[in-house]
Amino acid sequence: MIRLNLTKISSSCRNSLKNYKTQVAAIDANIKSKKKNQSAMMGWIDYATNISSAELKKMEKVVKKIQEECEVLVVVGIGGSYLGPRAAIDAINGIVKDSKLKIVYLGNTLSPTYTAQVLEYLKNKRIAINVISKSGTTLEPSLVFRCVVELAKKCWGPKKYAKYVIATTDAKNGALHQAAFAEGYEEFVIPTNIGGRYSVFTPVGLIPMMAAGLDVNSFIDGVKDAIVKYDNADIDENDAYKYAVLRHVERTKIKKSAEALITYEPHFIYLAEWWKQLFGESEGKQKKGLLPISLNFTTDLHSMGQYCQDGNPLFFETTIAVGKYQEDVTIPKTLLNFDKLNYLANHKLSEINDVAMNSTIDAHFVNAGLDNVMIELDEMNTYNLGQLMYFFCKACMMSAYLQDVDPFNQPGVEIYKFKMKESLKKI
Ligand code: PA5
Repeated sequence: MIRLNLTKISSSCRNSLKNYKTQVAAIDANIKSKKKNQSAMMGWIDYATNISSAELKKMEKVVKKIQEECEVLVVVGIGGSYLGPRAAIDAINGIVKDSKLKIVYLGNTLSPTYTAQVLEYLKNKRIAINVISKSGTTLEPSLVFRCVVELAKKCWGPKKYAKYVIATTDAKNGALHQAAFAEGYEEFVIPTNIGGRYSVFTPVGLIPMMAAGLDVNSFIDGVKDAIVKYDNADIDENDAYKYAVLRHVERTKIKKSAEALITYEPHFIYLAEWWKQLFGESEGKQKKGLLPISLNFTTDLHSMGQYCQDGNPLFFETTIAVGKYQEDVTIPKTLLNFDKLNYLANHKLSEINDVAMNSTIDAHFVNAGLDNVMIELDEMNTYNLGQLMYFFCKACMMSAYLQDVDPFNQPGVEIYKFKMKESLKKI
């Protein structure tokens, strides 16, 4: 279950929400009318409802073979073709526990050192590859895919290796689609009307999640329920739209320039990275948009705590608060009690983390005047994660339309890509 808690936002912000009821309802009507047009980039809105059991079975079959025969799955992709699955896998599995099939990520950077070290690690291992690219021409995954294919060929032989390569790409267009066809890779489709940062509900997210042992059916159930839950045009009945309006009010009325997404578990860091891309690429246009930043507390309280409390109050906060932790630790009692912390002995770290969270929210809201939107989850499981990711996508679309920008394009990204490609031709 996901709940929006607005007790720690200023009354002026809260009171402004009702002023947007008509505008939000009108945008919602517009979205619903656009959605009827298959070419609008809104295929993600009901993808989970329409996914066929044949498609899911095909994924299960391919993943089962890899789980049985391989040690490592290399997920090759960047941006929207990488952050969603990584966010989901980290959020559910944590970042320390090793699953039977290890998942590693490549093609999300041009870093020579990181790439070389991961390639070295993969040497002499039984590997499978899930290369994810809608266009099939993105520089980072394309270059690094070449290197991983070399390893896969060494591992399985030049003909057999193709059985261990899954290409997730466009159904008709692009270099990866052509390569998959020519080489005989297993192929899964990113629908034409779904953009990268909204693609976690498709095979882009589902295949790596399945491979990592996540309960994908429960993730899909969460998304399906969220489709119904966040379909209402009335902001009083739709928390995703309410969150979108809150962001809009913070930006336009309270004059904030940034939003900090705050989490209290290190394994939510990539969830925040996914969120940053979603909002940053969808809204950062025409000199508009809140700058999405993320903070992982309590770690970052020891680096950014000073700024948050006392620095330029250019941002508001959105905290993801999880009721039940996946695992816990009891603090032991020590005989000599040098640190004088025996009063916390036998308490759980979960209790202490919660106290840290509530005290920080209070300090930032009451003492620094920073609004804090709370997104409360009873627990982080695959069902709630599906709901949460859909909640953010739906909120993001509404938020972008409220500031009158297209949530689905990224013209700014193309400019650096063009310059880079021109320069690369000269090296
Ligand atoms: O959200 C987006 O559209 C981008 O982040 C893309 O996902 C990213 O650039 C990767 O593109 P592609 O899947 O074509 O390799």
